[in-house]
Amino acid sequence: MKKTALIILLFSFVLLLSQCENDPDGASENSALVQAGLIEAELGPIPTFNCEDGILIPIYVNGTEVFQDQAKYACDNPDLKGECLIGSRIGRIEGTNSDGTPRPEVVWVFFCRRGDNFAQMIGHNTTTGQTAFLELVDGYLPTNAYAQPNVNVPVPSDANYADAWKAPADIAIQGCNSCHSSDPFIHSRWVAGAKMANGTNEPILPEVATSQSKYCVIGSEFSNWELVHIDLTGNNCLSCHRLSNINAWNYENNTDWDLYMPPGNPGSMSTDYQSIKDYLQNLGAFEIDPNGTDVPNCD
Ligand code: HEC
Ligand code: HEC
Repeated sequence: MKKTALIILLFSFVLLLSQCENDPDGASENSALVQAGLIEAELGPIPTFNCEDGILIPIYVNGTEVFQDQAKYACDNPDLKGECLIGSRIGRIEGTNSDGTPRPEVVWVFFCRRGDNFAQMIGHNTTTGQTAFLELVDGYLPTNAYAQPNVNVPVPSDANYADAWKAPADIAIQGCNSCHSSDPFIHSRWVAGAKMANGTNEPILPEVATSQSKYCVIGSEFSNWELVHIDLTGNNCLSCHRLSNINAWNYENNTDWDLYMPPGNPGSMSTDYQSIKDYLQNLGAFEIDPNGTDVPNCD
């Protein structure tokens, strides 16, 4: 390479670097560790987990659990892409105070999706609504082809925390809110099939929130995340809980919520559900409802 070309290359690299530091929104961009401090102030210590300790998300065919991969759509409860693969795991960890005493209003859910080489975690304070979105750096875990990687993920006091967990700006840019829009947790039929190991038939996922529950995301990098729910006047489906696009009607797997809702009398609100589907028809599969109503904020 010519010397001038090299200098130009170096120069553009430096320019690029300086641009990265100058965030256009003027919002500060924190490191993973600083973000962890903000999260721990709201939710208490970020827990470690090991994907192997998660509960296997079951796949059913005609009501019977199967233990081999099925073709796309060929199961009762496909995942968000319509896949029927075995091996994804999910776990719930109760929050604690820094002295280790339990903090039942705080819940952490970790998620190890088949095929990923990372894991995700959402922490949520059910009283204040404060919520944390966390994701491991791509490749931190070996690809979860089926068997889960036996790795205990680092916590903020571990020296390798920032090598393992993404900085908040890197998570914010992924727009988790385009699907996790009306509530922190999405209760697809697939994921809700995973039950606590205590034999109570209670799902790993915390119970669905009410229509009044607060929801906001910790960290200034997330301040432009829209958190909205579908708001159709007088629609009975929206009286107990909020809904947003993907969790009301996932185009990919076309879950027919009419078969399950409302819990006491499934099918009794078909007309309300049909009007939600008609309303969503014109939105893209994972689009945020442009006419949605903001969720109740945290303060
Ligand atoms: C394209 C839509 C979409 C996006 C974007 C998305 N998720 Fe999810 N997420 C889902 C769905 C749907 C589920 C429920 C499981 C399923 O059916 O696949 C889920 C489940 C989860 C879970 C398990 C707990 C729960 O709510 O069910 C965690 C943790 C999670 N997502 C974290 C994240 C994080 C962190 C991001 C951003 C980096 C993100 N998700 C982005 C659709 C999405
Ligand atoms: C009487 C209260 C009530 C009504 C009315 C109701 N639901 Fe639900 N819904 C629940 C409860 C409780 C859950 C959580 C338990 C479960 O998943 O089975 C839930 C869960 C859901 C979920 C998963 C939510 C998520 O975001 O994670 C969807 C989707 C849903 N309902 C859709 C509907 C639709 C569509 C209707 C109208 C046909 C409806 N619901 C009417 C009580 C209700």
